[in-house]
Amino acid sequence: MRRFLLFLFCWLSMPAAAGPGVVIVSGGTLGIGYELVKMLYEQGWSVATFARSPEKVEALRKQFPDPKRFLAEPLSVMDLNGVRRFVTDVQTSLGPITHLVNNAGTTGPLVRAGDISSQAIHDTIATNLTGAINLTGAVLEQMMKLGVKGVIVNVSSGSSKGVPGLATYAATKAGINVYTASVAEEYGHHGIRAFALNPGHVDTRLQTAVREANPSVFPAAPAFVGYHERGELVEAEHSAAHIQYLLQHPEAFPNGSYVSYRQIAERLYHGGCDPVHLRYLSP
Ligand SMILES: NC(=O)c1ccc[n+]([C@@H]2O[C@H](COP(=O)([O-])OP(=O)(O)OC[C@H]3O[C@@H](n4cnc5c(N)ncnc54)[C@H](OP(=O)(O)O)[C@@H]3O)[C@@H](O)[C@H]2O)c1
Repeated sequence: MRRFLLFLFCWLSMPAAAGPGVVIVSGGTLGIGYELVKMLYEQGWSVATFARSPEKVEALRKQFPDPKRFLAEPLSVMDLNGVRRFVTDVQTSLGPITHLVNNAGTTGPLVRAGDISSQAIHDTIATNLTGAINLTGAVLEQMMKLGVKGVIVNVSSGSSKGVPGLATYAATKAGINVYTASVAEEYGHHGIRAFALNPGHVDTRLQTAVREANPSVFPAAPAFVGYHERGELVEAEHSAAHIQYLLQHPEAFPNGSYVSYRQIAERLYHGGCDPVHLRYLSP
């Protein structure tokens, strides 16, 4: 409770930034995506999201009941045509899309590169890379038609530098970093800003799978158990605040760059009013 009140105090005392817009957040039913959807909706944004579980999507619709400001559908980011139709629906229902967060993601199985199935390779790449590229393309098309100067945040990972046990996942995240840089170069002169965000180790369902991995395949598993036991994971609502900072302060970092949550925390909490975020600032 004390942590939450401190977080709230720091958040409220931050300088005002660019006003809310219409945002798509992929994978908004759980973890980082859910906290971001909740935060943006409560702050007056129009929010659209999708994920695979129909039950969780239905729960979101009940939680955020204003159809003029909220749209959620059961949909996989792997469904390329479905995602393009979703983008059109968002624009019709909520208005021109101004912001996009490619958040939906999966680690896929934690196995050695020689032991992953063809299906798992396909699904991991289709979710983290093809899906994000397809969604971004559809949103950029709309932004260009309407002359919107938008912001795109692609949720990447520190593993994009390479991690044993997560080779395919790491490859998708490295791919999204390069894609982000290319989009920024292509569309920067139209006022589009794109970032790849390393959110840190965030306390979500994804981390549970990482902690349970076999250390002979994923040598970092014991370290992740330690982060969890010592309370060193980033909380999902803090990740949401980091993403929101990027959405609302796109001039803070070079267009197309790979931004770490620590860099954002430094700017968000400069002066050290939040002890939780100060922890993220230590090396
Ligand atoms: N947690 C971490 O430590 C960490 C670290 C680095 C990067 N990240 C990245 O952060 C992002 C969010 O992860 P998280 O930790 O919040 O994971 P999470 O708790 O597992 O949530 C993932 C969300 O994405 C949705 N999703 C997954 N596959 C999907 C698909 N095919 N189509 C549509 N939605 C899909 C999930 O809903 P359904 O399953 O119902 O579809 C869920 O809403 C991911 O891109 C992940 O790679 C996380």
